[in-house]
Amino acid sequence: MSYGYFSNDPRLYVIPERLKNVGYVIPVLSPKGGVGKTVVSAALALTLSELGFKVGVLDLDLTNPSQHILFDVELREMPEEDRGVKPPEYFGVKLMSVAFYSRGNPLPLRGWEATNVIREVLAITLWDTLEYLVIDTPPGLTDPVLEILTLVKNPKPLIITTASQFSINALKTILTILKELNVRPVGVIENMSSKPSNDVKEICEKYEVRYLSNVPYDQTLNASLKLPEFQQTRFFTSMRDIATKIPEILT
Ligand SMILES: Nc1ncnc2c1ncn2[C@@H]1O[C@H](COP(=O)(O)OP(=O)(O)O)[C@@H](O)[C@H]1O
Ligand SMILES: [Mg+2]
Repeated sequence: MSYGYFSNDPRLYVIPERLKNVGYVIPVLSPKGGVGKTVVSAALALTLSELGFKVGVLDLDLTNPSQHILFDVELREMPEEDRGVKPPEYFGVKLMSVAFYSRGNPLPLRGWEATNVIREVLAITLWDTLEYLVIDTPPGLTDPVLEILTLVKNPKPLIITTASQFSINALKTILTILKELNVRPVGVIENMSSKPSNDVKEICEKYEVRYLSNVPYDQTLNASLKLPEFQQTRFFTSMRDIATKIPEILT
């Protein structure tokens, strides 16, 4: 991919250094918004941490960063800085978010401005040794997401979809583009489905991507979008089963 006039950006050399002690980077992607990327990212990170892994969450949803809400973090608490930013730990997971800088205000970023923020956050964040870094992303394959996939060496995207016709159509698009980019997803989660849909399974087969699981709709989830209540939900229990598969798949 061409970086245009940004090709001499020194951050492009810094970012691989910053990620060198991170085992697997899992960008959580979806063909469209509102399908559960944020709740899946948080649950995946927390459940992998329960399994004893060192895990980080990076919220790069520039328009609607929400991980700090789920992790119940006051935006007055700025991360510690020492020649870079050290992500604070909450509920056993290291958390970094663009919201620490936007302070919850909207970030109306265009094209290169959005790319710039992605690069800046990746370049300034000093992760400790991590086995997994889960990245919450904006919906679709827009500039910021493509930038993440370009800057991270060997990303392992987790795709979240629903069984709705709109999502399914967009799922084909995202899988086609990932194939063109030579990026192999770790798998697809079908969210808010009581049973696996044949349509989603067929697309996974066609694109040779693992269908990980369906996750049922949990009526209590919207009232429990904050830790620690989030960990008591049925949604979280479903995610626990899925998370146990991830280390086996990735090794
Ligand atoms: N399995 C589920 N059961 C019930 N509600 C869900 C489920 N998955 C997601 N939601 C709800 O759907 C909404 C969108 O989820 P979110 O994680 O913010 O999606 P995205 O990050 O993809 O935009 C949230 O209100 C969330 O609580
Ligand atoms: Mg989200």
